[in-house]
Amino acid sequence: MRTPFIAGNWKMNGSRELVERFGRQVTSAALPEGVSAALMVPFPYLEAAVKTFEQGPLVVGAQTLNDQPSGAFTGEVSGGMLAELGVRYVLVGHSERRALFHEDEAAVLSRVRAALATGLVPVLCLGETLEEREAERTEAVVLGQLEAVLDGLEADQRQRLVVAYEPVWAIGTGRTASPEQAQAVHEVIRARLGRYSASLAAEMQLLYGGSMKASNAAELLAQPDIDGGLVGGASLQVDDFLAICQSAG
Ligand code: 13P
Repeated sequence: MRTPFIAGNWKMNGSRELVERFGRQVTSAALPEGVSAALMVPFPYLEAAVKTFEQGPLVVGAQTLNDQPSGAFTGEVSGGMLAELGVRYVLVGHSERRALFHEDEAAVLSRVRAALATGLVPVLCLGETLEEREAERTEAVVLGQLEAVLDGLEADQRQRLVVAYEPVWAIGTGRTASPEQAQAVHEVIRARLGRYSASLAAEMQLLYGGSMKASNAAELLAQPDIDGGLVGGASLQVDDFLAICQSAG
């Protein structure tokens, strides 16, 4: 049975004070029953976030990791370091990482493997650009990104992923995919998961991301194949984040 999951991706935003504000306002009573939620905060705030939410209700995620366990990689952070801090999730393959930091399919797969090897849950992000959508390549692009990872994993590893569909044209633009557009892609993703196994298709949490906010979350989350959200800008405001969590209940 898939449960609703709302994850906030702060990107390179926020502050220690914002972690504390979330800590004061996001109590168990503030989340609807059965909804789980996470915050993906920048590296410097991870430890404070883990401490703040030691007793729940949020779990903490990182936004990237290096694929190597250790070594001479100045500035990088390994999965083992994140796991040691108490981090539970890590974003992999976010479109900003793919586009701005040149992470290709091989880099995404090796990061997913590194996350799994250290006990982290990778949230694998997929999505097409506007140009690709207009060229009617959405399915090919998204399924290509999905298969590039799934084909490189063992069956039991695939069961430990979360997938987020984030159309690049909807990220930070205020231009959300319509519920029908989002559902159509989620349905295609789930059908493709079924080629690997029926249980993978039935159990994998598929999140939608791209200008999700309090005013549009309910109709997106009501779609049969949308199990949650990956929220950027709106996750920087406690009230907005909580309102989205409420819509998932
Ligand atoms: P926005 O919600 O700001 O569009 O960002 C979405 C996103 O990229 C989350 O990972």
